[in-house]
Amino acid sequence: MNGLAFQQCISHSCARRYGCDDVLFACRACGSLLDINYDWSRCEVPKSLSFFEKRWSTPGRDLVARADFSGVWRFRELLPFAALEDIVTLAEGRTQLQQADDLATKVGIKPGNLFLQYEGFNPSGSFKDNGMAAAFTIARKHGRRRVGCASTGNTSASMAMYASQTRTQRGEPMQPIVFVGGGKISLGKLAQALDFGALTLQIDGDFDACMSLVQQAANQLDLYLMNSVNPFRLEGQKTIMYRVLEGLGWHVPDWIIVPGGNLGNSSAFGKAYMELRTLGLVDRVPRLAIINASGADTLSRLVNCEQLKYEGGRIDSTRVHSFYGRMKAEGRAAKTIASAIEIGRPVNLPKALRALEYMNGVVRDVPDEAILDAKALVGRHGFGCEPASAASVAGLQLLREKGVISPSDTVVCILTGHALKDSDATVHYHQSIVNDQHQLKLKTFANTPIRCPATIDAISTCIRHSSVVS
Ligand code: F0G
Repeated sequence: MNGLAFQQCISHSCARRYGCDDVLFACRACGSLLDINYDWSRCEVPKSLSFFEKRWSTPGRDLVARADFSGVWRFRELLPFAALEDIVTLAEGRTQLQQADDLATKVGIKPGNLFLQYEGFNPSGSFKDNGMAAAFTIARKHGRRRVGCASTGNTSASMAMYASQTRTQRGEPMQPIVFVGGGKISLGKLAQALDFGALTLQIDGDFDACMSLVQQAANQLDLYLMNSVNPFRLEGQKTIMYRVLEGLGWHVPDWIIVPGGNLGNSSAFGKAYMELRTLGLVDRVPRLAIINASGADTLSRLVNCEQLKYEGGRIDSTRVHSFYGRMKAEGRAAKTIASAIEIGRPVNLPKALRALEYMNGVVRDVPDEAILDAKALVGRHGFGCEPASAASVAGLQLLREKGVISPSDTVVCILTGHALKDSDATVHYHQSIVNDQHQLKLKTFANTPIRCPATIDAISTCIRHSSVVS
């Protein structure tokens, strides 16, 4: 650790500070979440974001080249908690901001103004790798061997991958332990955790139950927690915003739209812009839209129905507790096809409320049908994505319909995970027949495979009658 960074309780009335070598996941004094903060006056921060362009590089073996080849550590001056020699990297964050003109036309945005930030290009196929690079750097520095997380699938895949390729400073292998809800994660993600050698505990319960268990295990079983309550994870995830700005030639967009699950990303994005403004590196901040699935809409309900706000850190926690109390009494649990965001009790709620306040944000929820239709559109016009990621595009459609976003706004949708993470959902969408007002129909953007006899004539007939290839 370099003495420039410290952990700090986010509660304004507490704001207690701790050193970065203190292993903790909540404030010891009041139990609130922690931030990693910096003494910026002692940090070497570039005067302009364009400084980072000089890091566009080819791979190399020395420490600087390895860090520069990472889409996280390339921005190391903006997350200065680690010395160069301590950095863990698997070349994460080499992602792309794709201009999506055809999709823009479909959703009522001016061509040239819609961008998809595709995080599926990360080594384990999701945005989680940005955070794991940061969290493994600190875990290794702390000399921790046993790492653990609760997961809807991507955190576990990413953590297991980093654990399998990282050794402690004493050269020992790490021991990854993942807690997943039995039958709750897609096969692709489960396959990753198994392949990477994680001890995979299929818990009788949902993500929220796993999250509560892994927090107890962290306290009692010497487990280093890799969920996004670990504030170092969010430092890595800030870099998604730096890469978005980079892709836009350092211009700030009007909107960032992100799916909301455990609310780590939205929290990290808010912090990124708070710091960029403080450092004078941007002159304005985009608006934030966090999109829940309607079947897992805790944030949407709390913000839109219960009027919960950050209010400069004075969150009305009694309102949150009574909301969760009602949820329990009514037996209401999260349920959505977008399994990655099937979460009822998001752990980063206070930080997400802070991000919403700072970025003049909105929260919406979208039904599974809209998510799957949006996913098919992203597949047809972009690199594809998994269902949860498409919530951002479904959210954009909703916000356009309601006039919250206008056609001339510049919009960036974050596509959080790779298309192949949940191929079952995709194939099912393209093949299934739905009963719509007593009419059997295919889904709106279905592209069904056609059984075809093995003759050239039959193939020729199929091509002629095809409505897809044109
Ligand atoms: N999209 C994908 C593909 C995810 O895997 C997740 C979260 C989210 C969106 C939501 O992001 O939590 O930052 O609001 N997945 C976690 C997991 C919970 O365990 O893989 P968030």
